[in-house]
Amino acid sequence: MKKADFSENALRRILDRAAFRGEFHFLPRVDSTNQVAKKLAREGAPHGTMVLAEEQTGGRGRWGRKWESPAGMGLWLSMILRGPFDMQQDIRLIRAAAGAVIRSVEKIAGVRLSFKWPNDLYYGGRKVAGMLIEGSQKRGVYPFLVLGIGLNVKSMPGGFPEGIRERAATLEEITGSEIDRAALFRELVLDLEKSLSVRQREPCFL
Ligand code: BTN
Repeated sequence: MKKADFSENALRRILDRAAFRGEFHFLPRVDSTNQVAKKLAREGAPHGTMVLAEEQTGGRGRWGRKWESPAGMGLWLSMILRGPFDMQQDIRLIRAAAGAVIRSVEKIAGVRLSFKWPNDLYYGGRKVAGMLIEGSQKRGVYPFLVLGIGLNVKSMPGGFPEGIRERAATLEEITGSEIDRAALFRELVLDLEKSLSVRQREPCFL
């Protein structure tokens, strides 16, 4: 079988074909894509800007929990959404993003994940993906939000570290077959674009 191409150029071609108009930042290794995206947003990066890393050394989940993000094993990405947003929109955004992850995984891997509020996607009691939405608010209004998505795809050599082994899973472990990360990336981006209306200046996922 032809090895899936997950190079920066290959992903840029996918984004071009999907008529993705935001900026794309492909980083081989970074602490956390959410951190990078927040910095870019503060510096004025446009709505829809996407940051994707092959490896995160400080990937984070809610409550500061560590998110395992080894090189080449998953989709670790963050997207900048320009508001203004309020808390209610934040909640709808999470639901819309969860729907995009569920549909794209179903299309490529043939399994249906279930969403556990507020940010977890499970299969058979084991967590496969998580979302982290961050932003700074002033009197309840967020000028921008960063939506981070972590999706465990490839089976890791040696598996997950002790402590989360029982609770986490990758798509390859679940399906027993090889999953093309580039194809999954394509489906996810297309769905996020639709679900979050990333092409429009004003986000309208309401
Ligand atoms: C959780 O389960 O609590 C949320 C996990 C979110 C992980 C993703 S990976 C890409 C982005 N960068 C991070 O540091 N976290 C999110």
